[in-house]
Amino acid sequence: MEGWDRPRLIEPTTRLRSSFLAAVAEFRADRDYPTPWFVTDVDAAALADAEAFDTYVARLRAERHESGVRAAGFVPMTTLWWAAGDQMLGRLAIRHRLTRRLEQVGGHIGYDVRPSARRRGHATAMLAAALPVAASLGITRALLTVDETNTASRRVIDANGGEFLDVVGDKCRYWVPTASA
Ligand SMILES: CC(C)(COP(=O)(O)OP(=O)(O)OC[C@H]1O[C@@H](n2cnc3c(N)ncnc32)[C@H](O)[C@@H]1OP(=O)(O)O)[C@@H](O)C(=O)NCCC(=O)NCCS
Repeated sequence: MEGWDRPRLIEPTTRLRSSFLAAVAEFRADRDYPTPWFVTDVDAAALADAEAFDTYVARLRAERHESGVRAAGFVPMTTLWWAAGDQMLGRLAIRHRLTRRLEQVGGHIGYDVRPSARRRGHATAMLAAALPVAASLGITRALLTVDETNTASRRVIDANGGEFLDVVGDKCRYWVPTASA
């Protein structure tokens, strides 16, 4: 699926529309994990119409600014896609600051790898690539929250230097340093 292109974090782009649509279909059919938030958050029209997809992508890109924040309770968020050539493999979002809610669930960074691309190290590499981006946003250590039962994601966090903080409800919380000292 990855062709000859090395995966990297990119800005959301209309260029990857067909791969994005295929990835969304995979996430919806996934039996291993609940449907990720970002899939339920995609504007319905964007899945059917190219122009609406452009608007959706523009919304994602605007959300990193205070002026683009969608509603009360949301904070600026940088969404990046993990892509190899024209193939979208995953997505990641960096919340620029924590709210009381994000402190409990969500943290600074969330990520998803499409089912057909899993178990190839993409989540581990994607989080590693995102940490300098978080550092550039002034986040010196990123809070990550993960279901206690999500072994794969906990390994991703461990591989990226995560320091276990505690368990809140059914979530484990970790601090991940964003830049080496
Ligand atoms: C969790 C998720 C991001 C992992 O993505 P991935 O690209 O498959 O992860 P990696 O290939 O980098 O694997 C990371 C580690 O988890 C292990 N792993 C992957 N899938 C696993 C599974 N289903 N069960 C147990 N271990 C698993 C890998 O072997 C690897 O272990 P290692 O570091 O010891 O080699 C992906 O399964 C996903 O998108 N799940 C749904 C959304 C989600 O849970 N997001 C995270 C929310 S905190």
